[in-house]
Amino acid sequence: MNEKENDDACTLVIFGATGNLATVKLLPSLYHLEVAGQLNPDTRIICCGRKPFTQDEWLERVKKSVSPRARNSLDAECFSRFSQRIRYFRGDLSDASMYPALKAEMEMLETGNAAFYMSLPPSTYGEVVEQLGEVGIFAEEKGWRRVVIEKPFGYDLLSAQNLQRRLARWLREDQIYRIDHYLGKAMVQNVLVFRFANLMVEPLWNRNYIDHVQITHSETLGVGSRGGFYDSAGALRDMIQSHLLQLLTLVAMEPPVSMQDEDLRDEKVKVLKSIRPIPRSAVHAHAYRAQYGAGKINGEPVPAYLEEPGIDPKSVTETYAAVKFYIDNWRWRGVPFYLRTGKRLKEKQSTISICFKHPPQQFFRGTQVEQMHPNWFLLGIQPVESLRMEITAKEPGLEMRTRQISLDAHFRDEGHEKMDAYEDLLLDLFQGDRSLYLRYDEVEAAWRVVDPILKVWSTERDYIRTYPAGSWGPEESRLIFDREQCHWRHSLDPE
Ligand code: BG6
Repeated sequence: MNEKENDDACTLVIFGATGNLATVKLLPSLYHLEVAGQLNPDTRIICCGRKPFTQDEWLERVKKSVSPRARNSLDAECFSRFSQRIRYFRGDLSDASMYPALKAEMEMLETGNAAFYMSLPPSTYGEVVEQLGEVGIFAEEKGWRRVVIEKPFGYDLLSAQNLQRRLARWLREDQIYRIDHYLGKAMVQNVLVFRFANLMVEPLWNRNYIDHVQITHSETLGVGSRGGFYDSAGALRDMIQSHLLQLLTLVAMEPPVSMQDEDLRDEKVKVLKSIRPIPRSAVHAHAYRAQYGAGKINGEPVPAYLEEPGIDPKSVTETYAAVKFYIDNWRWRGVPFYLRTGKRLKEKQSTISICFKHPPQQFFRGTQVEQMHPNWFLLGIQPVESLRMEITAKEPGLEMRTRQISLDAHFRDEGHEKMDAYEDLLLDLFQGDRSLYLRYDEVEAAWRVVDPILKVWSTERDYIRTYPAGSWGPEESRLIFDREQCHWRHSLDPE
């Protein structure tokens, strides 16, 4: 990753500042950067929203969003410094007169560098960038201009291409910061360190030794208040096209020339381009979808997806998706990568599970050791950040019995601060480090990978299987496994 320089003061304009993302993630993350002394003293934050807040009312609201999320409780002095950076700017994005007014506001602040954060409904990105471009806000006369585009970038391949065309009229590629917050997670970055800073891993990291890879992101939460967005997206678009395919690229990529942004992204794109296209006729052998029904989470009854606010009662949108991909290159040919995600599942966790092949000979026949277990590498991304190697060892005693034991490394000691992914990514934005942001060809390649599945599912509008909330999802998703003996790895605990 590029070396971080902290000499770039800028004006950060947050569009959609009254929305959920800004409240829950952006403002608390900026506050934490303030506490860590990582914000340049001249950095300013313009919060744009439609609601008529006075400056004081807005600061009160910022306090309410930051306070409960502040690590080690709110630091009054830091918050006061943070407040002085913030201005509320009332404006309606669909009103053309807002854009010159915003420009005037920025001129008043004597903005040199500026970043614009699109914390908005994805359908508005193109329009807002166009309007900003029309009023000349992107002219880099006094400093750089950068635009952060939240995921999803497009709705499918075609819409992503259209959005890119619209953005490219006003912005160069190096000004567009396509965010995938998963890449800001500490353990996700650790995947690269684990692979490329430990020589012992590399010789095993290929089709000769690895049987298959599972990448799981499970949540106990349902769609909550995001029903309107989620019902038109579904789990494949929401999680697999972005976060989980990104994890896959990190697990599968070749060592990059360097950790600089372009080198890193070149290697990720190669992986995405090597994923074997799934023909329409094979979609059901590769992908499984389902939707949560009513059930219990932590003993409490929760409603079915169809009963959630904002959901069409006839919706067949998937809240669970499991997909098998093959990467057709020298390293990985023939190794299935199983990606799985779901809402309202039994536990919240994100894990990369690498299953090794069985040893070539069953040496212990005629003993109590009937079946050898494969080795696993398990990378816990959240909530527990850990690395676990599962190996077979002989049990103490006279008989030849074995059991699975694990070698564990936990990455965070008690008291270690856990940063939010957005903190790291916002800092990278200010410092112009794009290594953890997505380049357009990556996003396009990821859409190409999932597009055939989306197309087939979009024609199957009559029926979707359900799974009870609080379960591990539908048993039938095992249909995508290559081999009968394969099973989903739900837990980091030894099997
Ligand atoms: C978001 C998805 O990108 O990631 C959400 O839109 C999902 O549906 C979230 O819940 C998961 O991220 P995290 O960081 O909470 O695990």
